[in-house]
Amino acid sequence: AHQWRGVIREYADRLPVTDSTEIITLGEGGTPLVHAKALSELTGNEVYLKVEGMNPTGSFKDRGMTMAMTAAVEAGAKAVVCASTGNTSASAAAYATQAGITCAVLVPDGKISMGKLSQAIAHGAQLLQVNGNFDNCLEVARKLAEAYPVFLVNSVNPARIEGQKTASFEVVDFLGDAPDYHLLPVGNAGNITAYWRGYQEYAQPWTNNAGTELPPVATKTPVMWGFQAEGASPLVKGHPVTEPDTIATAIRIGNPASWDQAIAARDESGGLIEAVTDTEILEAHRWLSSREGVFVEPASAAGVAGLLKKHAAGEAPTGKKIVITVTGHGLKDPQWALRTADGADVEPTKVEFDVVSVAAALGLEDSA
Ligand code: F0G
Repeated sequence: AHQWRGVIREYADRLPVTDSTEIITLGEGGTPLVHAKALSELTGNEVYLKVEGMNPTGSFKDRGMTMAMTAAVEAGAKAVVCASTGNTSASAAAYATQAGITCAVLVPDGKISMGKLSQAIAHGAQLLQVNGNFDNCLEVARKLAEAYPVFLVNSVNPARIEGQKTASFEVVDFLGDAPDYHLLPVGNAGNITAYWRGYQEYAQPWTNNAGTELPPVATKTPVMWGFQAEGASPLVKGHPVTEPDTIATAIRIGNPASWDQAIAARDESGGLIEAVTDTEILEAHRWLSSREGVFVEPASAAGVAGLLKKHAAGEAPTGKKIVITVTGHGLKDPQWALRTADGADVEPTKVEFDVVSVAAALGLEDSA
């Protein structure tokens, strides 16, 4: 039977590897493109969710990390470092373990979810909680990699973007062509950069590593719509935000590293980058779990929040094919599901150990 072989082997023709490259992989990619029935019905479009929480460490970061760790090993690195709001560190820690090299991660103190923290610890990373935000962590990680023998695996490393562009390939391969629109959350802006590159490459002829010219796979590229959390929306405001703040800790970023590339993706695709509030993010998070059957972490719902907001404002398209990336798994940060829309704690109903009490609690009538 065919088993998915990870993004490098599946897309070796389009990635910077050779036949002799030692590939570090946990089988990432090949994630489901789920038809979002409720969103499709509400908005009058054909809406799909690219469910990136199904990657080995529970987020899209694994696509980039397989390439970055492969490049690190190729370069003879003995140690890697990254700054992270949590998912990159979980991914780096897992892939470094497979590569047999040391991993150091810098995370903002107190602003990363328990699930992500425990992943980095479980995989044996050297975890440093920095007294600063993500932007401060990234600055230190970059300086560390410049002055010390450690290999940087943040998305400023081009290998990360190369790996992540494979998500666009999968979307096109599944749908048969590019969608009309692609929506996604934007934080450090590596992912919007990667998707746009993937879509562009698939719409052009491509010379593979063996020198063979492959015809275009897609006839078009989508319009890119990116969404930031309002309290951390530098790309929307047009200037860095020094104190970014949002409950969506994964995208609590004030000065995205791939700023220019994100703006290019927006403008070249005829798209937009807008902000959604924390309330809108949590509403979309709830919509996904209760209406579509897809459980994500809050930041991952920003793209869906964006579509709901644009639809409510009468600014969403109709009759189009729309793909929305949901970036990370709900189990990364499950606390948000245990609150009602007005912030009250959800208490499970307790019952006695007998069928009559259980039936009564479920409101069932006796069928006999
Ligand atoms: N969604 C999730 C779940 C993320 O973890 C991130 C970024 C994003 C969206 C935004 O993607 O940065 O490429 O624009 N997380 C990084 C991290 C910053 O350290 O895990 P982006």
